[in-house]
Amino acid sequence: SRPIIIDTDPGIDDAVAIAVALNSPELDVRLITTVGGNVSVEHTTDNALKLVDFFEKDVPVAAGAAGPLIAEFVDASDIHGASGMEGYEFPEPDGSKLLPQTAVEAMRDTLMASDKPVTLVSLAPMTNVALLLKVFPQVREKIERIVLMGGTCGRGNKGVLSEFNVASDPEAAAIVFSSGVPIAMAGLDVGWGAMLRPEDSERIRDLNETGKMFYSMFGHYRGGSLKTGLKMYDAHAMAYLLDPDMYETADVYVGIELDGSMTKGCTLVDLRGYLHKPVNATVCTGIDAERFRTWLIDSIARCR
Ligand code: BDR
Ligand code: CA
Repeated sequence: SRPIIIDTDPGIDDAVAIAVALNSPELDVRLITTVGGNVSVEHTTDNALKLVDFFEKDVPVAAGAAGPLIAEFVDASDIHGASGMEGYEFPEPDGSKLLPQTAVEAMRDTLMASDKPVTLVSLAPMTNVALLLKVFPQVREKIERIVLMGGTCGRGNKGVLSEFNVASDPEAAAIVFSSGVPIAMAGLDVGWGAMLRPEDSERIRDLNETGKMFYSMFGHYRGGSLKTGLKMYDAHAMAYLLDPDMYETADVYVGIELDGSMTKGCTLVDLRGYLHKPVNATVCTGIDAERFRTWLIDSIARCR
């Protein structure tokens, strides 16, 4: 199975991605690191620990940055609820999985100790990942690829043209995209292209305990979207990693706008090569929605 590290800010769609990864026979989750994003890092860490306990997995968790490198921290508790995983009462985590190291130190240790290259799956503002690459550049050769949920080819969800994970910490995203480490990007486009319809959510509910847990959170995700369609953004990073054939992709240059007075935090996905810059990412541009939904339901069916 393939070793991965997940950097995340759970977050309801993060929770779905984590559940899939922890229960996939193809993946070996070596570490989960947390960052301030959807909610504070205290909450995202607590949520990661709750998920590891829920699935009874022996996966360490390390807490990372409380906020962006330079930008001000603004959460998304309006979308995911005050705790970040509103709607389900988990038992208090016992905390035994929480490492004493910071996220960046734990990532370094995990990477350097690995005999195979590790995939870094980034589901949140890229603060920890950027710090890792800057502080411990020796890890680069141990990273197979960074598969990330972030950015957009078109309109945004945080600004007119910007996506939450990139726009929350644009400088961090710029460090990651210019790092030279291979990047695969699943942006907002594929999340919108494959929303969960009410009947999909009901099927998930009826699968098992995990399905019930998610269904009760879905009722609190972006108030009311259970009826209009749920966006499973972060699950696409995991889906792309496990089954890339369900995506259309383009190998392109992606620039991160850092200066624009109205466009800071935008991803310039240069699909037509206007900028004549070297390719730095494989970007998901299309999705087979039916295949994704079936994949997700099958993946949750494997959980408890
Ligand atoms: C991203 O922002 C967060 O709210 C989600 O968890 C996802 O990672 C989507 O823009
Ligand atoms: Ca997230």
